[in-house]
Amino acid sequence: MHDIIRQLEEKREQARLGGGAKRIAAQHAKGKLTARERIELLVDPNSFEEWDMFVEHRCTDFGMADNKIPGDGVVIGYGTINGRMVFIYSQDFTVFGGALSEAHAEKICKVMDHAMKVGAPVIGLNDSGGARIQEGVASLGGYADVFQRNVLASGVVPQISMIMGPCAGGAVYSPAMTDFIFMVKDSSYMFVTGPEVVKTVTHEEVTAEELGGAMTHSTRSGVADLAFENDVEALLMLRRFFNYLPLNNREKPPLRPTADPAERPDPSLDTLVPDNPNKPYDMKELIVKIADDADFFELQPDYARNIVIGFVRMEGQTVGIVANQPLVLAGCLDIRSSIKAARFVRFCDAFNIPVVTLVDVPGFMPGTAQEYGGIIKHGAKLLYAYAECTVPKVTLITRKAYGGAYDVMSSKHLRGDVNFAWPSAEIAVMGPKGAVEIIFREEKGDPAKLAQREAEYKAKFANPFVAGSRGFIDDVIQPHETRKRICRSLAMLRGKRLENPWRKHGNIPL
Ligand code: HXC
Repeated sequence: MHDIIRQLEEKREQARLGGGAKRIAAQHAKGKLTARERIELLVDPNSFEEWDMFVEHRCTDFGMADNKIPGDGVVIGYGTINGRMVFIYSQDFTVFGGALSEAHAEKICKVMDHAMKVGAPVIGLNDSGGARIQEGVASLGGYADVFQRNVLASGVVPQISMIMGPCAGGAVYSPAMTDFIFMVKDSSYMFVTGPEVVKTVTHEEVTAEELGGAMTHSTRSGVADLAFENDVEALLMLRRFFNYLPLNNREKPPLRPTADPAERPDPSLDTLVPDNPNKPYDMKELIVKIADDADFFELQPDYARNIVIGFVRMEGQTVGIVANQPLVLAGCLDIRSSIKAARFVRFCDAFNIPVVTLVDVPGFMPGTAQEYGGIIKHGAKLLYAYAECTVPKVTLITRKAYGGAYDVMSSKHLRGDVNFAWPSAEIAVMGPKGAVEIIFREEKGDPAKLAQREAEYKAKFANPFVAGSRGFIDDVIQPHETRKRICRSLAMLRGKRLENPWRKHGNIPL
């Protein structure tokens, strides 16, 4: 018996070594941790249960019959993060470059199937050379098996991808279908076709980093939600992020007790909005000041910065924040910001996370670039997302809410549950200048008259009371009591039940 136990330990030891000491050293030399080291940092100490440590590939071509490494390039299993269940797969670059074989794919599918069965999130730590070249179509089939599960799990359990090495070709489409993609700077990249193919086809010369590095995807393409400095920071932040999420679509997110009083006033908010309506201010200041313990987990901070998204907690409860940012493009809605916010609203809606919307929007961005780019269709995504959303929705208009953008930004008309405005709010079809230039066109030659008309328009519409008189705004509130009023609203909405009519699925303008 002792012999068998010893053999087991030896077998385990061998499996833990993955591709061997030399390849582990090479991984470390690149500033990367190994698959198992990453898991250890991500989960609670001693909580990880590994499965399929002894799985091997079945390929016999190209000398592979004699080249088998237990585990076959991916570590799978489950563990806990702050005591809450999570399923994990972590690709092992030291084994065949983390390339995906049929057996490797089966392992990923196994954790995904279990996660769906018990209702727990899936985290994928990606570090792979892509399809296992020696296996050909069997590997492609394996990818498709994973894709299918990504889609079926979407909206059922949260799925998070951490890209910690190469992720190229069709392999990018599994992370692409998960809810969040995080990347590590300098050591990870994602692209559909690599620099060599790009050069051949389009004659562009570009490095892997420029084409698909963490900075590219977190600033230019919007593919990645965040870029981290290194593996350690990435995994520790992922632990923090995980704490905001529910385990599945039938549960609420965890409550985190706080000593921050819900009724805490903040007098500095009374002067946040400048007197001059054309002067910007930082909407993030408001977010931080109404959040529990000033804690805001922002997503996509460097992409489409005219809209801000992320998670806070209010009275311990996870809340999704969507906020126009007057500091960038005056807070206009454009193609990128609409898509960014729409996807976030849909995530919150799928996972029982209330949405608080902070509005200061002068309208949709004008111009041929936007129109030719399809702002009609893409702006409609955000409208659709808000209109479809059934979780509690609390909206606050701090300043401008003009035109169609007023409707879009979680207005009363899109089933906003509680809609507040600050006294500085201006809710109208358009800004005073543009409005009088259209309705008093014949007085264009008379600047004094036009100025008077503008002042009249301003007095009539540049305030929240016209909307208030129709009940479109539930109350005009003092800025300093914003946290209290939103917390109370969210507490009132805790038992909210609202269902959309039965349908197979809607047809969001994609
Ligand atoms: C089998 C692979 C592999 C792969 C890497 N390796 N990629 N083995 N299939 N796809 C092996 C290498 O042979 C090497 O083995 C080890 O992994 C480490 O690779 P290196 O090249 O030494 O590492 P590095 O210099 O860091 O380069 C990493 C890399 C490069 C950029 C990922 O390996 C590479 O370009 N690989 C091919 C990538 C590729 O074309 N994949 C197919 C993409 S198409 P040894 O034994 O020497 O350590 C695709 C389609 C998916 O994925 C479709 C889904 C629908």
